[in-house]
Amino acid sequence: MNILGIETSCDETSAAVLIDGKKLYSNVIFSQVSYHKPFKGVVPEIASRKHVEEINSIIEKAMAHLKKVDGLAVTVGPGLVGSLLVGKMTAEALSWVWDVPLAGVNHLEAHLFSPFLNHPKCSLPFVGLIVSGGHTNLVLVEDFGKYHVLGGTRDDSAGEAFDKVAALLGLGYPGGPQIDTLGARGNPNSIRFPRPYLEGTWDFSFSGLKTAVLYYLRKNPVDPKEIKTLSNICASFQSSVIEVLVKKTIRAAEKYGIHRICVGGGVSANSHLRTLFNKECYRKGFKVYFPSTLFSTDNAAMIALVGTQKIKKGKISKFLEVDPSLPICNW
Ligand code: KG4
Ligand code: ZN
Repeated sequence: MNILGIETSCDETSAAVLIDGKKLYSNVIFSQVSYHKPFKGVVPEIASRKHVEEINSIIEKAMAHLKKVDGLAVTVGPGLVGSLLVGKMTAEALSWVWDVPLAGVNHLEAHLFSPFLNHPKCSLPFVGLIVSGGHTNLVLVEDFGKYHVLGGTRDDSAGEAFDKVAALLGLGYPGGPQIDTLGARGNPNSIRFPRPYLEGTWDFSFSGLKTAVLYYLRKNPVDPKEIKTLSNICASFQSSVIEVLVKKTIRAAEKYGIHRICVGGGVSANSHLRTLFNKECYRKGFKVYFPSTLFSTDNAAMIALVGTQKIKKGKISKFLEVDPSLPICNW
């Protein structure tokens, strides 16, 4: 069964064809980052217009020599409403023309399962951590469509914290990859930033940490040319975020007796996060799975992966509703 996935929830226009829920035929991603960079963030109006301009050629590339697929899957939320609508309208039109089933996919579920693209033998259940630009969630995943959300962020998402701190440091947008690169060269113990554990809950909170960096910079202004100082700040900041993410996820795995962890979303590309998860999971005898860095950030392959399961289970519809704040729900 060949499924065409379409992803347009934010600033990546992407289409992918997945064969039998496992083998990737194509995965084409058009990143709009250069259009949003001058504004230091995603501009919704520009994002939806660019999706309209690019979507047809991206789908043509993903289809390569294929004339038709057996089904379609498209992101219906969460995300920017104008951007989501471009994907939904395109998918509805194609499903009507080709007369094939259509499934609406939750972008967060797709991030949860994204490690399966690289590790098809990864099994269920698992403890899932989503760390993206818009969300941070800890979820017990029993199966496709069977979730128990343990907690989420009360303010900034992990990705937002990286991007905002990068902006404070005068680094470009998006800031996560730059903090990762600089942080790898710095000393994570040089500055002791707070560790927001929110004990007794599975929730996260990163806005206080961002404020701590702001106050630190007010007291200790840093010249952007001082790479060593900048690297130490990046290393210390990311080590606070990552320590909390890794320790809380492992605690959840212990508490619920599920010794398998999947991490997805843009921040899962972070090298320090991967190193610490691997180290701590090895110590405990747990398994941890990441998507390749290409599948950490937004892509349509992960949409096709979840869409394949929905189509198999008959969770299809000719017409879809988009929801910018779509929560993780069971189906
Ligand atoms: O999952 P994603 O592509 O989009 C959303 O669904 O939101 O995540 C984008 C986020 C951005 O905040 C970006 O700064 C962050 O992922 N990110 C990283 C890294 N690569 C991307 N954060 C830390 N380290 C990275 N290497
Ligand atoms: Zn995403």
